[in-house]
Amino acid sequence: MSPRSGRDGPGAAAGGTKPGRPPAFDEGPPPDDALVVVRDLVKRFPARSGWLEGGRESVRAVEGVSLHIRSGETLGLVGESGCGKSTTGRCVLGLLTPDGGSVHFDGAEVGELQGAARVRFRRRAQIVFQDPFGSLNPRLTVGEALEEPLRVHRRGGEGRSARERRVAELLEMVGLRPEHRLRYPHELSGGQRQRVGIARALAPEPEFVVCDEPVSALDVSVQAQILNLLSDLQDRLGLTYLFIAHDLAVVEHVSDRVAVMYLGRVVETAPTGPLFDGPRHPYTRALLASAPALVRSRPAPAPVPLEGEPPSPLRPPPGCPFHPRCPHPRRDDECARDLPTLEAKAAEHFAACHKADVEGSVRSAEGV
Ligand SMILES: Nc1ncnc2c1ncn2[C@@H]1O[C@H](COP(=O)(O)OP(=O)(O)O)[C@@H](O)[C@H]1O
Ligand SMILES: [Mg+2]
Repeated sequence: MSPRSGRDGPGAAAGGTKPGRPPAFDEGPPPDDALVVVRDLVKRFPARSGWLEGGRESVRAVEGVSLHIRSGETLGLVGESGCGKSTTGRCVLGLLTPDGGSVHFDGAEVGELQGAARVRFRRRAQIVFQDPFGSLNPRLTVGEALEEPLRVHRRGGEGRSARERRVAELLEMVGLRPEHRLRYPHELSGGQRQRVGIARALAPEPEFVVCDEPVSALDVSVQAQILNLLSDLQDRLGLTYLFIAHDLAVVEHVSDRVAVMYLGRVVETAPTGPLFDGPRHPYTRALLASAPALVRSRPAPAPVPLEGEPPSPLRPPPGCPFHPRCPHPRRDDECARDLPTLEAKAAEHFAACHKADVEGSVRSAEGV
C-alpha cells in the first residue's frame, strides 16, 4: 500500500488543487493518442441560500476527477444519480467552468481557448442529451432544427440548397426518412426524437461527443437500436465518446473502458472486460450485484446489494466516501480516516480502496 500524503504524481502537477491535498489519481502520463485529458477536476455549486447555516456550504459535485479518453474510443462513465457524471461531462465541454483542475482537448486547455480556437472547439465537441424532447425546440421542424447548427458552425456548404442536401444526408445517417424533415418533435416517437438529437450533434462534424444518458429515457427495445446507431456512427465517422449512464448493462455494451464514479470521485477505472469480470472496488461490485440479470453471461458477484442512499455531496464523509455503505468485511478505521487514491491493481486497472489489495482482491476477501 502506498503512502497517502506527500505524493507528487502527474495528477498533482497538472491540477490546480490545494497544496497538501493528495492527488486523486495516479494513472501516470496520459497516452499519446488521448484526445481528452481531465486532471483533478473540481466543480462545486453554491448550496441554496437560507437553507444551510452560514450559507457558505457548497455542493461538491466533482471532487478531483482525472481521466483520459483516447481518440476513437468510448469511455463509459457510470455511477448512481447525483454522483457528478453530467457535471464532469459539462466541464469537459466547457459548458461549466471548473473550480479546480484542468481539461485538455487535443493538447489545448479548454478553459483558455479564445476566439477562433474556442469556436473551433465548440464545433469539434458536441453533446447528446438524455431528453431529446427537452433539447429540441418544439416550434422548429426537424429540418429547421438540423439547419440551425449548420448555419451556426458554417458547415454543410453555402446556401439553402446545400444545407438541405446536408440535412437529407444527416437524416439518412441516423436512420430517418427524408419526409421526417417536415415533422415537429411532438410528431415523433422517443427513439426518432433521439435520432434527431444525434443528427443535431453530428451536424457540425464533431470529433468528440458527450452522450449524457442518451438511452435512459427510452423503452428497452428502442435502447438497443440507438446504442447500435451510436456504435455504427462511431465506426463510420471515427468519433470519440464520453458515454454517461447509470445503467451498467448499457455502459458495458458500448464502452472500451469504464470509469466508475462515487460522490464526485472516480473510484475505479479499467478496460470494460476486466472491470466487469474482476471489479476491485466494493462499490463497483455492489453496483454489479444490484443488476446481475442485466449484465452479460458471467457469474453474478456476491449478493451484496447496495444499501442506503449516497451521502450528501454537501457534507461528504471523511476518509473513503464509500465507507459508510461499504460491505467489505475488512472495512476499518483506516477507511473512515484516510481518503484512498486510485492505485494500479492490474494493467490499466485502477481502484481507490484501502482493502482492494488485501489477500489479492476484494473478490477473494469476500470468498467469491
Ligand atoms: N446547477 C447546479 N446547481 C446546484 N447543484 C447542482 C447543479 N448541477 C448539479 N448539481 C448537484 O451536483 C451533484 C452532481 O450532479 P450531476 O452531475 O447532475 O450528477 P449525475 O449526472 O451523476 O446524476 C448533485 O448533487 C446535483 O444536485
Ligand atoms: Mg446526469
